[in-house]
Amino acid sequence: MKNINILAIETSCDETAMAIITNGVIIKSHIINSQAEKFTEIGGVVPEMASRMHEENIFKVFTDTLEKASMTMDDIDAIAVTYGPGLVGALLIGVNFANSLSLLYNKKIIAVNHMQGHIHAIGLENQIVYPMLSLIVSGGHTDIVLAHSPTKFELIGQTLDDAVGESFDKVARLIGLGYPGGPKVEQAAKLGQPTYNLPTPKDDSSLDFSFSGLKSAAFNTINQDNMKNIKVNKEDFAASFQKVVVDILVKKLKMASRQYEVNTISVVGGVSANQTLKKEILKEFPDCLIPSKILCTDNAAMIGAAAYHQFSENSFVEGYANAVPTITVEDNWIN
Ligand code: KG4
Ligand code: ZN
Repeated sequence: MKNINILAIETSCDETAMAIITNGVIIKSHIINSQAEKFTEIGGVVPEMASRMHEENIFKVFTDTLEKASMTMDDIDAIAVTYGPGLVGALLIGVNFANSLSLLYNKKIIAVNHMQGHIHAIGLENQIVYPMLSLIVSGGHTDIVLAHSPTKFELIGQTLDDAVGESFDKVARLIGLGYPGGPKVEQAAKLGQPTYNLPTPKDDSSLDFSFSGLKSAAFNTINQDNMKNIKVNKEDFAASFQKVVVDILVKKLKMASRQYEVNTISVVGGVSANQTLKKEILKEFPDCLIPSKILCTDNAAMIGAAAYHQFSENSFVEGYANAVPTITVEDNWIN
């Protein structure tokens, strides 16, 4: 059978990423141009700046991606692109680049849901046996998802307010660690003890999450200490915050696993790069699949992996793709 090479494009937030994926599983080339450092001092992503940087970087990422795979566009069978969810201006850079390539080289476009992409990161390193229960922990989402098949997803739990990665970023900013907060909080937490008393958020019988109360509690604790002239112990604070977050993520995944009969459990998305979370998850679920670090955070390889299943089902964009910034994990591209 002929190999299927998909050129995948991801620009939903602050990574300009492209990859070439063969048959949905072989990574031929994989380039991530991250803007994160540019946002370190600001403490978070500025959408307008992200769009401009995608625009500046995308052509070089494209040529580098082909070069690394020793391929030309003649070798490419389809172009996959993230169409949502994400920052609309950032998404549009990737989507319009895909539209231009499609017109220029006469290739079909596959519009990929970024959240489904995170789940398919698992398929690049392991075989997925469906149904699969997936916890997605990223900067924009905290979802518990039942994957019935490679293209059918059911959302069974989600955050009612802030996403878990977002709360890592906000707490990092609060204690002066900068952006992206997740890795910085993780590093600081390694040197500290969970001595601060922070509330376990939404510790109830639902599969939903809420992190805004925890964020407020963190702000109040720091403010009260400031008023008493008590200096924050960043390491202990990071360890305390990380502990309550990890505890609730593990607890809700455990609850979901009792309610649904599945063959595979996985944890994906940027926050799954957190080694403490990984350790605690593996204590409860020794067979749980978690991507390698590089495939946890945003990348285009996962978009190419997801796209392969859509290719197999003949799900292509008719005409041109557009960005749809507010879709959920359940949504598939509609022509
Ligand atoms: O999946 P992702 O790369 O982008 C989105 O789709 O949002 O996730 C980014 C988020 C950021 O909030 C970042 O702080 C968090 O993932 N993150 C981490 C770690 N690495 C990245 N959170 C905790 N620990 C980490 N090691
Ligand atoms: Zn993501």
